Amino acid sequence: MIDLSTDYLGLKLKNPLVPSASPLSRDLDTALRLEDAGASALVMYSLFEEELQAEDAMTERFLRHAGIGCSEAEDGFLPDQGDVCNGLERYLEHLQRLKSRLEIPVVASLNGVSLSGWVELGRALQEAGADALELNVYHVAAEMLESGEAVEARYLSLLDELRSVVNVPIMMKLSPLFSSLPNFVQRLERAGARGVALFNRFYQPDIDLDSLCVVDRLHLSLPEEALLRIRWLSILHGRTQLTLAATGGVHSHEEALKLLLVGADVVHLASSLLAHGPARLTQILAGMERWMSEREYESVAQLKGSMSQRHLPDPASMARSSYLRVLDSFTPRPGVWS
Ligand SMILES: Cc1cc2nc3c(=O)[nH]c(=O)nc-3n(C[C@H](O)[C@H](O)[C@H](O)COP(=O)(O)O)c2cc1C
Repeated sequence: MIDLSTDYLGLKLKNPLVPSASPLSRDLDTALRLEDAGASALVMYSLFEEELQAEDAMTERFLRHAGIGCSEAEDGFLPDQGDVCNGLERYLEHLQRLKSRLEIPVVASLNGVSLSGWVELGRALQEAGADALELNVYHVAAEMLESGEAVEARYLSLLDELRSVVNVPIMMKLSPLFSSLPNFVQRLERAGARGVALFNRFYQPDIDLDSLCVVDRLHLSLPEEALLRIRWLSILHGRTQLTLAATGGVHSHEEALKLLLVGADVVHLASSLLAHGPARLTQILAGMERWMSEREYESVAQLKGSMSQRHLPDPASMARSSYLRVLDSFTPRPGVWS
C-alpha cells in the first residue's frame, strides 16, 4: 500500500489532490462527491471584495431610499436578508454547511486587491470553522506610477492585516508576474504566510472582430500550463519552509506526478474537474499509484522534491541554460520551407 499522505499548511492530508477555488465548492452535493472521489481537502470559491463592496453600496442605497439614517439602522432598521442578500452571511453559512458534512479540511478563500479592511472578514471565516485561509490578490498592475515594489508591498500589507486577525494558516495565491519570485516568497514567509499557491491564472480580455467589443471568455487551462509551475516549484523547493501548492494545468496523473517530483506538497485541480467531473480525481489518484508502484516508490514523501532544482545534476537546466538548448532544438517540419 503506497502512502500518499502529505502535509498542507500544517494539516495532514491523505493524498495531495485538492480541488482549488472554483464553483465546485458552491454546492454541498458536489463537494461530497469530490470527497467520495478522493479529494483530501477542499478550497472554497472566493469571497470577493467587489461583491461585498457592491452589497455595502446596495445596503446604503436601500437605507437612503427608505429615508433611514444610520443610527436608526443600528437600532434594528437594517433591511432583512430577504430584501438585501448578504454575501458574507451566505458564504459563512455555506462554509458551516460544508464543515458539518465533510470530513476533509475546508479552506476559505478571500479575493481582492484594496487595502480597505475587507480582509478583516478573515476572522469571521475562521470562526465559521475554516481550517485555513487562502488569500488571492488578483491585482493587474496597470498603473504607470505603481512600482513592482509597491505591488509586493500591497500583498505584504494584506497578509499582515489578515495575520493580525486570524491564527489559522494563510496560503498566498500568487500570480506568475513577480520579477523576483524567490525573494518575494521569502518575504511572505517572514511576514507569516504558511504557504504559497503557484500560480493564479489571469483571465485575458479578448476582442470580438465582428462587434469590435472587448469580450471576456473563460478558457479552462491546458496541461502545458503546468510547465510554468514545474519550473518555479522546482526552484523554490528546499529554499523555503512554506507549503508549496501547485495550481494550474493539472489534467492527468502525469502533471500531478511531475509537480510532486519538483517539490509540490499538494496539487490543486479546477479545470480538469469542471470539464470531466469527480471521476477524473479518482483516475488521477489511480494513475499516480500505478506509476509509483511500477517504480517501487513507497510514499509521496519519498518522491516529493526528488527532482527539484537542487537535486538535479544540472541545476541550471531549470533556469537560463535550457533556454539555448531549447531554441537550438527547433527543426522545421520537412517541406514547410523548401
Ligand atoms: C470557473 C472557475 C472559477 C474560479 N474561481 C476562483 C475563485 O473564486 N477564486 C480563486 O482564487 N480562483 C478561482 N479560480 C482559479 C482556480 O482555483 C485555479 O487556480 C485555476 O483555474 C488554475 O487551475 P486549473 O488549471 O486546475 O484550472 C477559478 C477557476 C475557474 C476555471
